[in-house]
Parts: sequence; structure tokens; C-alpha cells
Amino acid sequence: MFDLTGRTAFITGAGQGLGAQIARTLSEQGAAVILNDLFAERADAVAAELNAAGGKAVTAIADISDLEALKAAKNDAESEIGSGVDILVNNAGIPAGGMALEKFLDTDPTTWHRQVDLNGYGTFNTCYVIMPGMIDRGWGRIVTIVSEGGRIGDPGIAVYGAAKAMGMAFMKSLANEYSRFGVNCNSISLGTFGAPGAFSEEMQAKMARNYATKRLGTWTDIAPAVLWLVSEEAGWVTGQTVPVNGGYATS
Ligand SMILES: NC(=O)c1ccc[n+]([C@@H]2O[C@H](COP(=O)([O-])OP(=O)(O)OC[C@H]3O[C@@H](n4cnc5c(N)ncnc54)[C@H](O)[C@@H]3O)[C@@H](O)[C@H]2O)c1
Repeated sequence: MFDLTGRTAFITGAGQGLGAQIARTLSEQGAAVILNDLFAERADAVAAELNAAGGKAVTAIADISDLEALKAAKNDAESEIGSGVDILVNNAGIPAGGMALEKFLDTDPTTWHRQVDLNGYGTFNTCYVIMPGMIDRGWGRIVTIVSEGGRIGDPGIAVYGAAKAMGMAFMKSLANEYSRFGVNCNSISLGTFGAPGAFSEEMQAKMARNYATKRLGTWTDIAPAVLWLVSEEAGWVTGQTVPVNGGYATS
């Protein structure tokens, strides 16, 4: 099960963090991978790692909120890898430079567009340039990474949460429009996670109180859920928001 041999995956924000781990997992299952990121050096390092491990990986450097730059990078990467994209993972979602925890009325209005450009327009753009090929070939899988912060409505991240909710709603409508052509569209809604050892013991203990599992997540808690949703075996799963959250919320 979950064999991706012969499939090509395009993963946004794949130069580090969860995106790089998703690329590792899909590559291990046989997919060729196109690694998008803003930063060439990050994506190059992940491509080198995957190619050294026997996979097939190329990069597509572009800001996904720039439709023309994205289209050019995607076309070049498809030519380089020799096949069209079957799997799209919309993973990039934290603007370069990070984000602050602050109540809405304390936010600077000139920063709001960064979230909407990345999580709204970025997702519209990738789907706009990649879905036509999926529909032509009669098979596709799209997974958008969203956040429990947006699904539940956590305080301190209202604009980020709202921008994530755009991606969630967008997947549902695309599912209703295009699943009949073999293109399934879902979201995965995440609780807080980090690289192994990313959180101090004190921070981990404080935050983990809110989780049924009494721990925060790791990349390897999440990438297998992405693998399931992009596989042949998830053919009857579409239009869903799947929480992968350590029990942060139970509905
Ligand atoms: N970290 C968490 O606790 C958490 C919780 C819930 C959801 N999420 C979501 O998980 C996803 C991955 O998070 P992460 O912590 O691994 O992120 P990260 O910040 O570690 O890595 C994201 C990568 O995306 C790239 N990127 C940023 N803007 C881009 C753009 N415009 N175009 C192309 N690439 C761009 C960055 O250069 C970076 O390499 C995001 O969608 C995030 O919102 C994270």
C-alpha cells in the first residue's frame, strides 16, 4: 500500500521543516519530487539528500504568491524531471521572517497581507497552475496544510488562522468541482509541532498540557498522514479537513 512509484509530487516550502520531511516520505515511497522554496540553498540541500538516497528530486525556486514566477519554475521543473505533477502539497504557510503572537487589535495592518498572500493567493496559484495537468491525466491529489489555530480559532493568531481557513474552504470547493475528474482535494489541520528537540523541556511541558497525548508533535507524526491522503488508497477521501493534532481538539 501507499506506493507512489511513477508519481511526481510538488511540495511548497520544502526547503526545511515539515515540507522537507514530507518530501523525504513521498520520495521513500517512490515519488519523484519537485521541491519548491523561496530559498535555493535550502531546497538544493534537500534535493541533494534525496538524490543521494536514491530518489529523484529537483527544485522549483519561486515565491508561490507570484503566479508568473511559480508557473515558470513549475514548467522548468516538470521539463527537468520529465513528467507532469500528480501530487500537490501546499505546505508553505509561515511567512519568511516568522510571525508574532498578538491580539488582533495590536497587529500592524500593513502585515496582514503577508498571511493572505502566502496562505490564500499562494494556494490559489499552485492549484491554478498545477490542476489542469492533473485533470488532463485524470488523476491528482492535493493536500493543503492548515492549522488547528484556524480551525478552532486560537487567540493571538487571528489573521494567520483566517488565512489558513481560506485554504481549508478552498479545498472543499475544489473537491466538489474536480473530484469527478480524479483530483481529490483535502486539508490536514495541525497542532503545534517542531523538529526533534525543537522545544525546551519547560516549553514542551507547558504547551503539552492542552494535548490529550501530553506531548507536542514532530514532523514524523505528520508526514505519514500526508502520504495516506496523496495515495491511490485515499481515492474515496475528498473535501475533508483531517486533524492531526495529538488530541488538541477532539471534534
Ligand atoms: N510549526 C507549527 O507548530 C505549525 C502548526 C500548525 C500548522 N503549521 C503549518 O505547517 C506548515 C509547515 O510549517 P513549518 O513549521 O515546517 O514551516 P517552516 O517555516 O519551518 O518552513 C517553511 C518553508 O516555507 C518557505 N516559504 C515561506 N514562504 C514561502 C513562499 N512565499 N514561497 C515559497 N516558499 C516559502 C520558507 O522559506 C521555509 O523554508 C505551514 O503551513 C504552517 O503554517 C505549523
